[in-house]
Amino acid sequence: MNKETKTIYDAVLREAPEEEPARQYYFMERVRELVELKKSEGYTAAAMVNVIGCQMSAKDGEKLQGILERCGYRSSTDADDSDIILFTTCTVRENANQKLYGRIGRLKHQAERREGMILGITGCMMQEKDEVETIQKKYPYVKLIFGTHNIYKLAELLYSTLMREKRTVEIIEDTKLIVEDLPSERRYRFKGAVNISYGCNNFCTYCIVPYVRGREKSRSAADILRECERLVQDGAKEITLLGQNVNSYGKDLNGGYSFPELLRMVAGLPGLRRIRFMTPNPKDFSDELIEVIRQHENICRHIHLPMQSGSSDVLKRMNRHYTKESYLELARKIRTKLPDVTLTTDIIVGFPGESDADFQDTIDVVREAGFDSAFTFLYSRRTGTPAASWEAVPEPVMKERFERLLSAVRESAAEREGKDEGRIMEVLVEEKNAERQGMLTGRLSNNILVHFEGPDELVGEMARVKLERSMGFYYIGCLAGACDCPQT
Ligand code: 5AD
Ligand code: SF4
Repeated sequence: MNKETKTIYDAVLREAPEEEPARQYYFMERVRELVELKKSEGYTAAAMVNVIGCQMSAKDGEKLQGILERCGYRSSTDADDSDIILFTTCTVRENANQKLYGRIGRLKHQAERREGMILGITGCMMQEKDEVETIQKKYPYVKLIFGTHNIYKLAELLYSTLMREKRTVEIIEDTKLIVEDLPSERRYRFKGAVNISYGCNNFCTYCIVPYVRGREKSRSAADILRECERLVQDGAKEITLLGQNVNSYGKDLNGGYSFPELLRMVAGLPGLRRIRFMTPNPKDFSDELIEVIRQHENICRHIHLPMQSGSSDVLKRMNRHYTKESYLELARKIRTKLPDVTLTTDIIVGFPGESDADFQDTIDVVREAGFDSAFTFLYSRRTGTPAASWEAVPEPVMKERFERLLSAVRESAAEREGKDEGRIMEVLVEEKNAERQGMLTGRLSNNILVHFEGPDELVGEMARVKLERSMGFYYIGCLAGACDCPQT
C-alpha cells in the first residue's frame, strides 16, 4: 500500500461507525467508490458466488451476492469472466472438502493471470483450523478467507483486501451477535429461505456442525416475520424456514416463541402460499407441531425427519436422544395425523461400532416407516468430533451395507410412488425444462416434481396440474383444463 492509499485507508477505518449494520453499509459505499474508480480503468466488476453444501450455505450465498451487488458488482455466472469469485463451503463430510479443493485448484491459472482478481472462501470449512492452514500454505492465490460468523462483514473485508492488495484472513471462533437488515439477493423471485436460528447445541457425536456453526442462536420472531413479510411483498410464494434444529427454536430466547408458535404466525401471513422448514429433529418433534401443520394448508406436506440409524444402541452412541421404537412411533403418528405427507430422512451407514444387527435395525425401520425417499451417507470421520477416535467399520463392509440400504430405500419408495396419479393438484412452477422446449417443471406441496407442458410465463406461479402418469419419483402432468385428457 503506498503512503497516499494508507492515509485514505486509515481515515476510512477511523470514520467507520461502530454499530452494525451501519458499519457494513458504510463499507459497501466505500467499496462502491473504489469499484467506480476501477471501472474507468477497464475493470468489469463481475462477481460470482459458488455454493457448496446445504440450504444454509445457499442462503449465505444469497447474502454474499446481495452485499456484492450493493458494492457495485454485477452478478456473473462465468468464472472466466469474474473479478471476484467467492465460495461458501461445507465440511459435513470429507467429500465436500475435496470438492472445494478441486474447484479452487482449477481456478489457479485465472486467479494468477487476471489483474486484481479476488478469489475468496467462506463458510463451514473455514471454521476448521487445519483447512485454513492448508489453504494459506498451498493456495497463495486465495486472497480472502473468512468464516461462518462474519459473513455479514464481507464489505469490510473486501475493502481491506482491495486497499491493501494483500490477503485478508479473519476467522471468529463463535459469536452471540446476529446482524439484521443486510442486503440479500434471492436466486429465485418466487421462493426464498429465512434463517430462524444459527448453530446447534445437540452435539451428535459424528457431526461437525456445532463446532463450525457455533452455539444455537435464535433470531427474534419479529425479525423473522418482518423478513417473511418483505419476501411475500416482493413476490415470494414459498418460504423455507431454516435452522439446524428448528424444533429448538426460541429456547435460547428468554420467554420467546416456540417453533410451533412461530410456524403458526408465519403460516398466517397473508399471501404466503407455501411454507417449508428444515430441519426438525425427531427427539423434540411435538404433537403441537403436528397439529399446527394439520391446521394450515399452506404448510407443505413434506416432513424431512433425519433418522441417522435404526439401531437404538447406535442412536445412543450418536447422542440422538431417541430410540428405534420412539422414532417409529413418531413416524406412525405423523402418517396417521397427516396422511398426505411425504416422509423423507437422512441415514448414515457405517457409524463406528455399527454391527450387522444394528444395520439390520436400520433396514427394518426403513421398511416399517415407509419413507418416500432418503438421503443415504457413508459415515465420514470428522476431526474433533467424539466419534472420530472410535473404531471404524471396515470400508468394504460399509459399502456392502450402503448398497443393501439403497435397495431397501428404493423398495420402500416404490411402494408409495404414484399414489396421487390421476389427481389434480397445485404445483409451484419452478423452471422451464432445460431439455424439452415447452415443458415446465414444478413441485407439489409434498415436494414431488411434476413435468408438464405450459407457457414460460407460468414460471414462478401456482398452477393446477393433473398428474397423468407416475414416472417413479416424478409425475408427467398436464395443465388442468388445457388438454383433452379426461379431468377428474
Ligand atoms: N458422516 C456422514 N454423514 C453425516 N451427516 C452429518 N455428519 C456426517 C458424517 N460425519 C449427515 C447426517 C445429517 C446430514 C445433513 O448429513 O445424516 O442429517
Ligand atoms: Fe449435526 Fe446433530 Fe446438530 Fe444436526 S442436530 S447439525 S446432525 S449435531
